[in-house]
Amino acid sequence: MIEINNPVTNAILRRRTIRSFTDEELSEEIINKLLECAMWAPSGRNSQPCHVRVLNDKRALDALNKDFKDKVGWDTPAYTRWDVNPVYQGAPCMFFIYAENKDAMNGGIMVENIAVAAEGMGLGSCIIASVGGLLEAPEGNKWKKLLEIPENFCFIIAVAVGYKAEEPEPKERRPENFRLIKEIDHEAL
Ligand SMILES: Cc1cc2nc3c(=O)[nH]c(=O)nc-3n(C[C@H](O)[C@H](O)[C@H](O)COP(=O)(O)O)c2cc1C
Repeated sequence: MIEINNPVTNAILRRRTIRSFTDEELSEEIINKLLECAMWAPSGRNSQPCHVRVLNDKRALDALNKDFKDKVGWDTPAYTRWDVNPVYQGAPCMFFIYAENKDAMNGGIMVENIAVAAEGMGLGSCIIASVGGLLEAPEGNKWKKLLEIPENFCFIIAVAVGYKAEEPEPKERRPENFRLIKEIDHEAL
């Protein structure tokens, strides 16, 4: 008997972008489990191109925020919650995904593993591309050094993770874009 509604599908459907977190820190056990879930993400031809680093040092996260503000600024309307914590959204911990090439596909699959695994544990997450405005610029090399990432690597994506301090309403989806083709025109095959 197939369990259509199971902890994995439930976590996928329950996950929302969280932009408000409590101060509670994540244990190393939690961080390591999320790293393990990242590591077990599939990758094209099993190339495993991504390297992941986690920062849970508040001072370092604040410094990253400040560097972002100095380099990119945070009055860009495209982004949300600039007033609060544009880079890490006040989360106690942030995962950074890098790869030797700008490998958005493999990094994207990996970041979703982290976000869904976090939701499965009752934690919140916010996937963050905008920090690339700093990390992909020459000014980002300082952070590559700090994160022990080779200088020739590219920043792919980040995700802030922590205990939720909000339960946002689901964002509207476009179900008309998702459908099963029930009858195909065999004459056209
Ligand atoms: C590739 C990607 C990049 C994103 N970058 C940011 C970001 O830089 N800042 C931010 O606040 N949210 C970011 N988000 C979160 C999206 O805004 C969010 O997923 C979207 O609004 C849908 O909301 P939901 O995740 O609650 O369904 C990003 C999401 C994805 C998938």
